Amino acid sequence: MNAYLIGLVLTAASTVYALPAAGVNTAAPFTLLPGPAFDALIVGDWGTDNSDQTAVAAQMNIWAAKTQPSAIINLGDNFYQGQASYEAVQAVNDPKFASYWKNVYNGDSIKSLPWWSVLGNHDWYTVNSQIYELEYQDPNWILPDFFYTKRVQIDTGVFATFLFIETDFLAYNAGGSKNAMDQNFQAMGWSTSAKTNKKQLAWIENAIAQANNDQYIIVVGHHPTYTCGGKDSSPDLQALLAILNKWNVSAYMNGHSHSMAGYVTNNGKTLQVQSGSGGQVSSYCAPVDTSFSAQLTTDQSLEASLGFSHLRINKNQIQVDWITSSGTLVGSLSVPARVPVSGVVPDKTYLTSPTDASVHFSLAPLPATTSVVNTKTSTTTSTTKAITPTSTTVSIAKTSLVTSSKTKTTSTTTTTTTTTTTTTTQTGPTINPAKWNQGKKCAHDPCSTGSALDPSCDKSGCLTAIGNAYPYCVNVHWGNNKAPCVDSIYDICGFVCQ
Ligand SMILES: *[C@@H]1O[C@H](CO)[C@@H](O)[C@H](O)[C@H]1NC(C)=O
Repeated sequence: MNAYLIGLVLTAASTVYALPAAGVNTAAPFTLLPGPAFDALIVGDWGTDNSDQTAVAAQMNIWAAKTQPSAIINLGDNFYQGQASYEAVQAVNDPKFASYWKNVYNGDSIKSLPWWSVLGNHDWYTVNSQIYELEYQDPNWILPDFFYTKRVQIDTGVFATFLFIETDFLAYNAGGSKNAMDQNFQAMGWSTSAKTNKKQLAWIENAIAQANNDQYIIVVGHHPTYTCGGKDSSPDLQALLAILNKWNVSAYMNGHSHSMAGYVTNNGKTLQVQSGSGGQVSSYCAPVDTSFSAQLTTDQSLEASLGFSHLRINKNQIQVDWITSSGTLVGSLSVPARVPVSGVVPDKTYLTSPTDASVHFSLAPLPATTSVVNTKTSTTTSTTKAITPTSTTVSIAKTSLVTSSKTKTTSTTTTTTTTTTTTTTQTGPTINPAKWNQGKKCAHDPCSTGSALDPSCDKSGCLTAIGNAYPYCVNVHWGNNKAPCVDSIYDICGFVCQ
């Protein structure tokens, strides 16, 4: 018997599950890990706009009533075409945000939960769709940047760091991108010649290294590193897997493959969690690498089931449960709290500055911790969350954007006396923040909403300053035939560029 099968179905010690017969629409007897604990639901590949999606949403609500999660971990592929005529979203106020998301996950037990989100490949399939998802404003739509971290306190001296990462460029820079994805990569300045993939991997490894003293490190991305390893994994995703293993991360969570699967890998140190059937299901994709020490199940009814997953972490272990759209608890896996790894150092070769506009991430210091725990210990006792969860981390770039939009609001409601109090995050003397982005969406659309600008235009440094303050809006990396442009350049910088 493998010592690492701590939470495996039918082998659990502290947690007892009865595995119902396949297809039986009955939730298994269920006991939660004792609190205090962090509790969340996990769902991926959900935005199909069909009855499969709503079936999963309904079960998520039922499960949330039992477990009282603090968040929903969103694995990407948020907006498929569905009944619309386009993939992804076309605007920051696209009606899909309501009809495919907010109005679907509106059950009483989930409607107030924050969605800690990443994007999937389908979220890149319309021009600038990835940016619109980033800019969409809803208190529960948590996507502060393409790469960001969150850190929660679970118990006294016990912490979990979550890294939310963008895997699309890692997956497709060697080919295989579709629709507008390549155009979107180019618009963002992401390219292998700019070593964007190397920089992204460097950010990931260095963020993991910063969290090395935490008992749990959970990395969340869209594409599999393991579950379909050897089939869908690109060289950069394989490099990502090596980083996860090198640092003994607690878990990697992914969607993309529209099935559910789980493995205990890396000599019992790492959970590989796949939950990609939140809105559609397709055939199971087995890993080519079979060096796992535990497998969720070989039950084909699970692997071909719609569903979602449940995460719970207490001071001793991290556990994931897989639940089908008919409410069947199909299985559970867990690994113990990690100990800090030693004798390894992160590769800093390609680590870039915190506000590298071409990479769109920041390596901000770990945020102030926030306790997100619940003390629920069983489904038969009524419970109260010990502490209300709040979001912890936003990256530098998004912080600037948010500040900017607040500035705009202030100036429109008070008409005067706005500029002096709102310039603290600005750099560059020529930016007039009161004029920033007035009533317009962020001018990030290179050369589609305004004229291309020649670098020689930027004599005053205004554009570059904007790009540094708002890296979503202007690509300040001159060259590579990617002249930045903004459509409101006159208002902001006071000059017109031809
Ligand atoms: C990862 O965990 C294993 C098992 O506990 C341990 O042998 C190994 O040294 C750890 N890795 C590092 C880099 O510390």
